[in-house]
Amino acid sequence: MEKLKVLFTREQIAARVAELGEQITNDFAGEPVVLIGVLKGAAIFLGDLSRQLDLDATFDFIAVSSYGNQKQNSGEVKLLKDVDLSMEGKNVILVEDILDTGLTLSYLKQVILAHHPREFRIAALLDKRSRRQMAIQADYVGFVIPDEFVVGYGMDYAERYRNLADICVVP
Ligand code: IMP
Ligand code: MG
Repeated sequence: MEKLKVLFTREQIAARVAELGEQITNDFAGEPVVLIGVLKGAAIFLGDLSRQLDLDATFDFIAVSSYGNQKQNSGEVKLLKDVDLSMEGKNVILVEDILDTGLTLSYLKQVILAHHPREFRIAALLDKRSRRQMAIQADYVGFVIPDEFVVGYGMDYAERYRNLADICVVP
């Protein structure tokens, strides 16, 4: 655990987040958007991405728990906190740190679609495509990564390392 290897530097992350922000700004062309962050891992990504949007944006947060140990997702997802604001008729972008097996986002997609948004998109900073178990993909992806456990830039290992500015691999 002591030796963390940098996978993406803060400069690489900032450059990619700026590109995603420009893409989203162009796609929604002046329309308002609601950014829904999945707590806690997506909080920093949401903060940075939102400041790269030249759009009228509001924030909301949703929380889930998945059972099992920290490195393994057991497949059961439970909603701990729903959104506070109405999503009916809104352009909703679900903002997540990592799309891994896809269980979390498949579940959250159902939760959000039940609120009848006008448009629903997913922004995932990282995509571990090789791990996917559910047929779900993100509309905006920061980086596709191999099957390695990463921390930093909001992401944790047993709640630690969220405040690292770079994204690092846990050996
Ligand atoms: P999924 O339901 O398997 O797609 O799991 C996605 C969630 O698992 C992410 O939102 C993360 O919270 C967590 N997760 C998956 N891989 C990692 C990792 O490498 N580091 C930290 N959290 C991870
Ligand atoms: Mg998460």
